[in-house]
Amino acid sequence: MTTNHDIKMVNPSVEFPCAEGEFVLTAMQRSGLNVIDVGCRGGGCGACRIQVVDGTYSRRRMSRAHVSEMEELEGVALACRISPTSPLLIAIAPPAVQELFSE
Ligand code: FES
Repeated sequence: MTTNHDIKMVNPSVEFPCAEGEFVLTAMQRSGLNVIDVGCRGGGCGACRIQVVDGTYSRRRMSRAHVSEMEELEGVALACRISPTSPLLIAIAPPAVQELFSE
């Protein structure tokens, strides 16, 4: 039996279910929400950066160009690469520092 977890986003305020093993970005889109930017869907473009404020999750490989090791430790993640293992509280994360200075 699949376990579903509630994903609450604070900016904007929305909530949607996500199954363990399902990517947060996929679940958001399945719920008809378009509140996170979507790009490659493969962990390579950084469009879907989020901050996990509370909760636990499993993750697949994410581009270090878009999520540094320190950011990852602080809960920054790519929504297309993480699956919840508990309910999650998330927010849209600001762009990676290196992206602010690239042309
Ligand atoms: S959509 Fe490209 S990293 Fe998530």
